[in-house]
Amino acid sequence: MERIIETVLEIGLEKPVKILHVTDVHLVDSAPDDDPEQQEHMIKRKEVFAKEANYPPKTQNEYFEEAFRIAEEENAVMMVSGDVMDVYCKGNVREFHRIADGHDYMFTPGSHEFALFARSPKGDDPAEYNRAYWERRKQVEGLFPELKFNFESRVVGGVNIVAIDNSRDFYSAEAFEFLKKEVEKGLPIVLFSHDPLGDHGLLRVREPHPLVRQSDETYAVNDAMIEFIGKCPLIIATFGGHWHGEAERIAPNGAKMFVTPGLFKGICRMIEIR
Ligand SMILES: [Fe+2]
Ligand SMILES: [Fe+2]
Repeated sequence: MERIIETVLEIGLEKPVKILHVTDVHLVDSAPDDDPEQQEHMIKRKEVFAKEANYPPKTQNEYFEEAFRIAEEENAVMMVSGDVMDVYCKGNVREFHRIADGHDYMFTPGSHEFALFARSPKGDDPAEYNRAYWERRKQVEGLFPELKFNFESRVVGGVNIVAIDNSRDFYSAEAFEFLKKEVEKGLPIVLFSHDPLGDHGLLRVREPHPLVRQSDETYAVNDAMIEFIGKCPLIIATFGGHWHGEAERIAPNGAKMFVTPGLFKGICRMIEIR
């Protein structure tokens, strides 16, 4: 690993709890699906990420392997917050399985898990776009039956570690219900989602693209959940990825917000709660 950001949260625990936060792996595999066009796309994407990471000495696949080793050595809970696969294709599914299978980790997806190649036509009908999205999402979920794509939680050493999907730039009504039930447990919570709480997509700073725009009711629930997160005293910090860069500040809703850089840069975050 090129760098491990160290984040300490003091809440008065007797024994510290460690979480290794890893995000935006962006696995790119140029192994062909007998499709030269896909292969060409993958080679281009490899270069995009290498350049963005300033040509690090290892590949994202190697950093992903190393992160699992570090989490196990440090007795930390491994949290993977999405964009593991740059696109959904056979080669990336195979690499994701090869590296992660057999390890214990928590997960919440990014949008790239369900993305096809850049050249794939997206159409202009939101209903058709949505149908195609859910078709792909069900396929990906079926290939990783051990992962909980919508939400999951785990209580470790008196801390409730919660992961909730917001990868389509909103929190769903089911997600909000889940979070409220987690809060009822009465334990301190660290919340992980792909989009950070200050993300412009999540906050709809700009009008969403017509293909992905949701109903006003859906956005009202999302906004209420974001407000709830900001006001909930049990939520001690929130963590996200998606920006590929590092940030630490108070989000517009008042929540403490940490953004962890993409693992393809050889960077991850060790959180110690004590
Ligand atoms: Fe990403
Ligand atoms: Fe992302």
